[in-house]
Amino acid sequence: MSIRAFFAVAALASLALLPGCETMSSFVREDGTLDCAALYARRCSQCHALYDPSDYTDKEWVSKVNRYGPRAGIAPDYRPALITWLQGSN
Ligand code: HEC
Repeated sequence: MSIRAFFAVAALASLALLPGCETMSSFVREDGTLDCAALYARRCSQCHALYDPSDYTDKEWVSKVNRYGPRAGIAPDYRPALITWLQGSN
């Protein structure tokens, strides 16, 4: 590996370690379930205060999470669980 390539790799690796840039896997518990409360609190409060789950109907949460999930960096695979959690905690 050239020295330039080495520094490029090192810079990328350090980016991944910056606080606040945690990956989706940091919200997955040891038993494999998703910690939706933590995910919602961390990712959906970056641009505005958190909305109360009871503010919206089950149907509305589907469209909200599909609209804002991408902006919050929530991978598509994780959105159904978050939607179910928001609907269930009404
Ligand atoms: C990148 C910034 C950003 C992130 C991250 C974000 N939102 Fe929002 N959200 C907005 C903005 C801007 C509005 C203001 C309403 C608009 O855009 O018309 C908003 C409004 C809302 C509203 C009320 C207005 C509406 O559209 O009905 C809900 C509910 C909402 N966001 C849910 C969420 C959820 C759930 C998440 C996490 C998955 C999230 N947001 C993450 C930017 C963001």
